[in-house]
Amino acid sequence: MSQRTPIVGGNWKMNLHARDAKQLAEVIAQRVGGLDKAEAVVFPPFPYLLQVGTVLKAASGGLTVKLGAQDCYHESNGAFTGEVSMSMLKDVGVETVLAGHSERRHVIGESDELINRKVRAALEAGLDVVLCVGEKLEQRELGQTDAVNAAQTQYGLAGVGAGQMGRVVIAYEPVWAIGTGRTATPDDAQGAHRAIRGTLAAMFGDKVAQATRIQYGGSVKPSNAAELFSQPDIDGGLIGGASLKADDFVAIVEAASATVAAAVG
Ligand code: PGA
Repeated sequence: MSQRTPIVGGNWKMNLHARDAKQLAEVIAQRVGGLDKAEAVVFPPFPYLLQVGTVLKAASGGLTVKLGAQDCYHESNGAFTGEVSMSMLKDVGVETVLAGHSERRHVIGESDELINRKVRAALEAGLDVVLCVGEKLEQRELGQTDAVNAAQTQYGLAGVGAGQMGRVVIAYEPVWAIGTGRTATPDDAQGAHRAIRGTLAAMFGDKVAQATRIQYGGSVKPSNAAELFSQPDIDGGLIGGASLKADDFVAIVEAASATVAAAVG
């Protein structure tokens, strides 16, 4: 078992309104406060970042739930209608950003080049980054899973220095498992994570690869979290649907924390 601290992200996507967002943040902040073996971060929609951040800051406890943004733009300011800069995100208390989520790649149409610009700009701005990678169903069926993940990892992290990798988390999210109720088997997920770690080793060396956290995402729920998180190369999860229910999200953070406790004890 690794020394890596598991990290569980709650990606709220384009869901909730102000009142529900505040309530969800309050419950999560209170209930994960006592867990000190896993990290938790929530990614609310842009309009609620400030409010959710205020709620998270007000809660006390051993584990501080971090505030993350679902997207960002690489330019620092100017005529980019609708976009949000890194310094604006930092201004409202954001510490970490998602880049390359499959919905942004395949629904919105973001390219590897744009994703890489965002990754580098976020790191330069002092933010942490969760770079999401993952294959589509047809790519899996053609046996291309590892090649797709390697390419997205290499493109996404091009120009990133080994010294910046402490602030990067990879989220492996097979596209066919996101929001579908279908989850990769723990063995399949472990295989993909090990291969991604191999790509990181080739890019940045073994030490960095061993220290980098790789989360699994795609229909994680309380009933499958523990088995997924106990795989040697899986360091927590990025949670969509189940992160909108406080009980489920808290149970998943508890599962990540318990994996570490079991490994240590
Ligand atoms: P899901 O989403 O848990 O609803 O499958 C995961 C994600 O998109 O990060």
